[in-house]
Amino acid sequence: MNRSNIIELGYLVAAVLCMVGLKGLGKPRTARRGNLLGASGMLLAVLVALLDQAIVSYWVLLAGLAVGATIGSVLAVRVQMTSMPELVALFNGFGGAASVLVATASFIEVTDLGMIDDQVSVAASATALIGAVTLTGSIIAFFKLKESMKWSGFGGIRTINALLAISGIVLSVLVVTDPTNTIWLWALVAVGALLGMLLVVPIGGADMPVVIALLNSLSGLAASATGFVLDNTLLIIAGSLVGASGLVLTQIMCVAMNRSALAVIFSAAPSASTGATDPDDVYAGKVTSTSAEEVAMILDTAGRVVIVPGYGLAVAQAQHAVREMTKVLEANGTEVVFAIHPVAGRMPGHMNVLLAEAEIDYEQLIEMDEVNPTFAQTDVAIVLGANDVVNPLAKTDPDSPIAGMPILDVDKAQTVVVIKRSLSPGFAGIPNPLFAADNAIMLFGDGKKAITDITKALGE
Ligand code: TAP
Repeated sequence: MNRSNIIELGYLVAAVLCMVGLKGLGKPRTARRGNLLGASGMLLAVLVALLDQAIVSYWVLLAGLAVGATIGSVLAVRVQMTSMPELVALFNGFGGAASVLVATASFIEVTDLGMIDDQVSVAASATALIGAVTLTGSIIAFFKLKESMKWSGFGGIRTINALLAISGIVLSVLVVTDPTNTIWLWALVAVGALLGMLLVVPIGGADMPVVIALLNSLSGLAASATGFVLDNTLLIIAGSLVGASGLVLTQIMCVAMNRSALAVIFSAAPSASTGATDPDDVYAGKVTSTSAEEVAMILDTAGRVVIVPGYGLAVAQAQHAVREMTKVLEANGTEVVFAIHPVAGRMPGHMNVLLAEAEIDYEQLIEMDEVNPTFAQTDVAIVLGANDVVNPLAKTDPDSPIAGMPILDVDKAQTVVVIKRSLSPGFAGIPNPLFAADNAIMLFGDGKKAITDITKALGE
């Protein structure tokens, strides 16, 4: 077996490990093993790539590794757990950027050598367009997730996007038909970058989760197209896996959110207003606050409790405290389950990951469709750091940024205990009439402290 056979075999084994790993990630029970297998596949891929000297010299690789590892380590150490979604969005963008850089460099090299063919030019134009869209789209998504960008664009932005998309197609054709003129490729990168930015700017509210999944998919497609430029089978396979699984996730998000991907991208840009509802009209004189002791008394006699975790659970890092409270309630004979909304938190599966970290049984996590019909038979619903996912305005206010988003019907429970620090809005920036409902009581404070206080009061 010669060197090139060993390299091909190595890439093949790495690809199989990634595929088996991805399959494992499909179920909570096998997710850890799947993650390990996928990571092993990537490690093997890196080792084989080091053997494959056709890429670049070891010195260049080492320099790249040193720069990347330094930036990655600093980011990993500094990032707060609650900022992980933004970091993941940025990683998607970096994936797009890396694909553009590698594909354009390879394209220019092959063109200079006079060895350009249709496979390389078609793949390079696809990478330039998709990779650039992914890069700038992810940067905008990063700022939106950080909640430091509320701008939703300007009138006519969709028309400009349509024109940019047409220009992108025309430039792609020019790259293929006139490959020696590299200006077309650079123009395509510029158009893609502008398009990515302007596509994501008008999107917000309930549509952000769909965009995140879509950008994730695009980063995979860009990598796959780069694989065709470099003729690297592993990159083609790994990129396709990311692209396809991202598309499946996008579809799952669309179904869960009652949206269509096309509507998210091409429907009219939302107005700058965040809905017609004034917080004073919603809350004034109608909110009842409570104490941990009072909540403990209500829980003491409850037969069934449903806990609704949201982004505030992640901010408060209250997952372990919740587990302790769950154990005390169960010891008291109370049935406790968790209602999981598909977009609770800031990334797909955010709540599942947090609750799994606290070793809460997967069987206790109930999806929205399954748990909603059971709220009428629930004594207490505890809304812990969740807001948009339980906001009835999604059903009643067609101007709201979350209009049409399915919500968890907690208001059907006998008593709703809402734990959060204030009446501040959630990600969508709108008030929540649930907090003023007759059967709702508010326990103001940090999620972890509130749950710890309730557990203590239950013990007493
Ligand atoms: P949000 O609607 O964002 O509400 C979170 C609430 O947590 C806030 O109102 C905040 O109120 C409270 N909070 C923050 N820190 C807290 C702490 N230490 N203790 C207790 N409460 C705390 O969260 P959600 O209900 O999970 O909804 C998710 C939103 O994010 C949706 O609009 C969704 O579309 C969007 N989004 C989701 C994703 C994915 S993929 N999941 C991606 C992008 C965007 P206080 O400040 O008053 O405490």
